[in-house]
Amino acid sequence: MAVLILVLLLAASVAAASDGDFLFSDAFDAYIGVNIGTDLSDMPHPTQVVALLKAQQIRHVRLYNADRAMLLALANTGIQVMVSVPNDQLLGIGQSNSTAANWVSHNVVAHYPATNITAISVGSEVLTSIPNAATVLINALKFIHSALVASNLDGQIKVSTPLSSSVILDSFPPSQAFFNRSWNPVMVPMLNFLQSTGSFFMLNIYPYYDYMESNGVIPLDYALFKPLPPNKEAVDANTLLHYSNVFDAMVDAAYFAMAFLNFTNIPVMVTESGWPSKGDSTEPDASLENANAYNSNLIRHVLNKTGTPKHPGIAVSTYIYELYNEDTKPGPISEKNWGLFDANGSPIYILHLTGSGMVLANDTTNQTFCTARDGADPKMLQAALDWACGPGKVDCTTLSQGQACYEPDNVFAHASYAFDTYYHQMGKDSESCDFNGVAAITTTDPSHGSCIFPGSVGKNGSLVNITAPSMNSTSSNSSGRNICSGGLTSVFMIIVVLIWSALFL
Ligand SMILES: *[C@@H]1O[C@H](CO)[C@@H](O)[C@H](O)[C@H]1NC(C)=O
Ligand SMILES: *[C@@H]1O[C@H](CO)[C@@H](O)[C@H](O)[C@H]1NC(C)=O
Ligand SMILES: *[C@@H]1O[C@H](CO)[C@@H](O)[C@H](O)[C@H]1NC(C)=O
Ligand SMILES: *[C@@H]1O[C@H](CO)[C@@H](O)[C@H](O)[C@H]1NC(C)=O
Ligand SMILES: *[C@@H]1O[C@H](CO)[C@@H](O)[C@H](O)[C@H]1NC(C)=O
Ligand SMILES: *[C@@H]1O[C@H](CO)[C@@H](O)[C@H](O)[C@H]1NC(C)=O
Ligand SMILES: *[C@@H]1O[C@H](CO)[C@@H](O)[C@H](O)[C@H]1NC(C)=O
Ligand SMILES: *[C@@H]1O[C@H](CO)[C@@H](O)[C@H](O)[C@H]1NC(C)=O
Ligand SMILES: *[C@@H]1O[C@H](CO)[C@@H](O)[C@H](O)[C@H]1NC(C)=O
Ligand SMILES: *[C@@H]1O[C@H](CO)[C@@H](O)[C@H](O)[C@H]1NC(C)=O
Repeated sequence: MAVLILVLLLAASVAAASDGDFLFSDAFDAYIGVNIGTDLSDMPHPTQVVALLKAQQIRHVRLYNADRAMLLALANTGIQVMVSVPNDQLLGIGQSNSTAANWVSHNVVAHYPATNITAISVGSEVLTSIPNAATVLINALKFIHSALVASNLDGQIKVSTPLSSSVILDSFPPSQAFFNRSWNPVMVPMLNFLQSTGSFFMLNIYPYYDYMESNGVIPLDYALFKPLPPNKEAVDANTLLHYSNVFDAMVDAAYFAMAFLNFTNIPVMVTESGWPSKGDSTEPDASLENANAYNSNLIRHVLNKTGTPKHPGIAVSTYIYELYNEDTKPGPISEKNWGLFDANGSPIYILHLTGSGMVLANDTTNQTFCTARDGADPKMLQAALDWACGPGKVDCTTLSQGQACYEPDNVFAHASYAFDTYYHQMGKDSESCDFNGVAAITTTDPSHGSCIFPGSVGKNGSLVNITAPSMNSTSSNSSGRNICSGGLTSVFMIIVVLIWSALFL
């Protein structure tokens, strides 16, 4: 017996060592991004979306289309943007070289580099949601890429297509995972394309559905990244790798499935993952607490660069599904409740993210602002305003005529804007909100119209009237996830049952 175990151990270490061609270990810094679905009855204006992104220090977003107003609002913000070819445009683009070139010209070239577009996701879960379009998927990828090459943008902008994790069969144990073979005629050229263009394998991972559909086989803690005692971790009997969460197991399943087709150097990017915060009576685990645990743990896991058991230290950039709750999504209650924020920009829950660094600042409920004190002497306000916009180094251009914060044109309003900007420049140090006694800290957001105060998370300003056209939020396919897309196969289930029985019984 001891000899057998030793042989297994050796086999496992040889298998691990043979990953020498895994070339991208240092090439990418993993980040957390956020998906922006627009199925809201009261979709915030693009300027408000961007104000929220800035306040939350979200530096990476994925759009489900290439909405012009949104791309204009994201210009010169430093936010990196993934745009998408919606599924209903895929056929046209995959059938016509020139349609693809037009799409790139209108939706990418026209905005770059002011808007930092870094990736194009072509279609959404095409193989599983619109399988009849699968035949044009490769051409769509190639045509879009050729158009980027023609504009000399192929180095900066990657092209790929997000897949549902249900294309991976037998995903546990990960070492036995493979792609549903009926898709090989698409999958192999797709992987060739991704490899030759240095792009990503884009995957949507929903442990919520894996957990729900497992009928109790997958423990909730394992889905939520909660610490498991070592003897409860899932062990891949082939590699002896220990899995402590569904997310890592699914990412490694993707790596193994690619390796079965001899592709070993395409990095995985997770284009959607999340957990609903509310459900109906049949969805008791769609809860605030679980959504908070999942997303908080996911963010920490990605930013900590823990990597996966197969590729330790190689963290997988991940886009959280999603920024807003989408109240007009059809389906069960959980469908409408994947968001981190409501339409007002108020957080649905405060993530447990001490020390998470830059992304998703956790203090949105305690927003503070510095404004002119009621009844303050206008002369003193004017002097303080002059100081702030001069020696205080506040950029006061937005207060000049025709700019967003010009109206109302009075010293009280203008001083408030300058004070608040200064206060935030000083890191909300309470001593920076004094101005000889004419300023005071408040928790009421003074933003109005298109005049967004520093520190605002983008409440509904309602008067916003910028030159950008309004956002078209009614397209039914604007969000990518399909209700039925998180499926596990029966084979997967059987193996999970076997593994878990072996571990727990
Ligand atoms: C796309 O069109 C260009 C000319 O517009 C042509 O040179 C190129 O071969 C076409 N590509 C494909 C794949 O048809
Ligand atoms: C886009 O973001 C990347 C990553 O931060 C950066 O390297 C690049 O210079 C940016 N491009 C533009 C046009 O701002
Ligand atoms: C594999 O894909 C085919 C084509 O979509 C589908 O009919 C079949 O059910 C899939 N197999 C499994 C095991 O999911
Ligand atoms: C992968 O490579 C091996 C060895 O070169 C070869 O035997 C096998 O057929 C290849 N598999 C595929 C799916 O191309
Ligand atoms: C982050 O990674 C370090 C080592 O790389 C590890 O010790 C620590 O437990 C990790 N933290 C979390 C929250 O995963
Ligand atoms: C927010 O994060 C800080 C540390 O960054 C932490 O001290 C504080 O408790 C957090 N607040 C909440 C409500 O989670
Ligand atoms: C907001 O501030 C109050 C008072 O300082 C504190 O009790 C509360 O926990 C804070 N809430 C958050 C979410 O940080
Ligand atoms: C946003 O502003 C519009 C226009 O005033 C208003 O109709 C809508 O109810 C507001 N939405 C919210 C959530 O306050
Ligand atoms: C918004 O702009 C339109 C036309 O540009 C104008 O008629 C309307 O009065 C503006 N609304 C506000 C609230 O400024
Ligand atoms: C918004 O929709 C209208 C009609 O529904 C269309 O004419 C317009 O071009 C769309 N705007 C954008 C930016 O897509």
